[in-house]
Amino acid sequence: MEIKPDSLAFSLIGAAQAVAYVLEGTALPQALARVFAQTNASPQARGAIQDISYRTMRQVGRVDALLTLMTSKPPEPALLYSLMCCALTLIVKEEGQEPPYEDFIVVDQAVNAAASSSHMVFAKGMVNAILRRFLREQTELLATVMKQPAALWNYPQWWIDQCKAAYPQDWQAILRSGNQPPPLTLRVNRRQISVTDYLALLEQQQMAATQIGPFAVRLAKPVPVLQIPGFESGMVSVQDAAAQLAATLLDVQDGMRVLDACAAPGGKTGHLLELADIDLLALDSDPKRVERIHENLARLKLFATIKTGDAGKANWWDGQVFDRILADVPCTASGIVRRHPDIRWLRRKMDAVQLAASSARLLDNLWLMLKPEGKLLLVTCSIWPMESEAQAAAFVLRHGAIRLDAPGQLLPQLDGNNDHDGLFYALFQKPAV
Ligand SMILES: C[S@@+](CC[C@H](N)C(=O)[O-])C[C@H]1O[C@@H](n2cnc3c(N)ncnc32)[C@H](O)[C@@H]1O
Repeated sequence: MEIKPDSLAFSLIGAAQAVAYVLEGTALPQALARVFAQTNASPQARGAIQDISYRTMRQVGRVDALLTLMTSKPPEPALLYSLMCCALTLIVKEEGQEPPYEDFIVVDQAVNAAASSSHMVFAKGMVNAILRRFLREQTELLATVMKQPAALWNYPQWWIDQCKAAYPQDWQAILRSGNQPPPLTLRVNRRQISVTDYLALLEQQQMAATQIGPFAVRLAKPVPVLQIPGFESGMVSVQDAAAQLAATLLDVQDGMRVLDACAAPGGKTGHLLELADIDLLALDSDPKRVERIHENLARLKLFATIKTGDAGKANWWDGQVFDRILADVPCTASGIVRRHPDIRWLRRKMDAVQLAASSARLLDNLWLMLKPEGKLLLVTCSIWPMESEAQAAAFVLRHGAIRLDAPGQLLPQLDGNNDHDGLFYALFQKPAV
């Protein structure tokens, strides 16, 4: 059976393919890029595929439990299982949220999607029967699966346990915040426009927005990046409010020599350059991501020396010490799951331990490159203490670093004017010689 490229069935197949790639271990942005490269989806269809796959990532725990309850074994092949996950996601009602499609349209289109694929056509009756059974018996089925924490919270059990152990008071709010679609927060480039003038520009374009930090503006309604006024000319960047604290905390002054050691894609690099006239070296070990630093700085009309290299080695270093070092080290990204809902399904319990160990190696090396009385800012977008507070405390013990005032662990917040991701900040000063 042929399906039209503007139909929900087409979007369901695309989303199912993306979800299948994620469940095999690919991050969702890359999974979507693969799907878009394989299909000639229109911009509208791409938007729908992206929306359905992000929604599904926020519901995998629940829809997997429902499928387990309604079938004797997980539907095969993997694409069929993912199609069922996507279709169920669209008909499971979420508290306080409007369903994106009518139930009967989802069922009809999911059956068409199965019928359009030679790998799934045999199962179109089963797709129909399971989705209809869910609609008939949803109250009882949901009451049964909600007894399982993974279905109730939509996170793997180990993640829930780890969050509860680390934050006995806040774990529920943290898990809940990770299931909300993120806001669109912008950083105003003060070299091009003031926050007041940018807010006036948004008002002219009838886009409601609120200032939620010194340079942070949150749009009331997220829009595609290219529709953000002034984005292409570098007036603003997309950056969460908590991430905007980094550049200010590092306390950069004109004329300083600064290293941004894990810089790609250059979000914080750009902010440092917006704040002061500094001699900045932006380093990252991933050559593909380094290209994005070039693109971002070109858009912002800012300049840094950009190098590809390992912050744990010195082969890229000219031997001149730095006044300031930003170490935004690779981490589990457990503090930004609302932006990346796939992360919880991709990570494994031991990842935080391994990442903390490799970041400690980077920090030890970077410390050698810092001037006496210079400052190093450790940043992670994690909520796991192993990667954040425990890492900072161990660093002080190893190096006798002076710990200066910085926010420490910021837990993700959903609260209006204080809406941000979960980040960790520790600021260290090197003792004078
Ligand atoms: C959290 S991201 C940085 C985000 C960036 N600071 C920003 O604000 O846009 C961590 C970065 O560390 C890089 N990275 C990982 N291992 C590295 C290493 N050994 N040396 C330098 N960069 C590394 C990754 O490629 C990734 O781009």
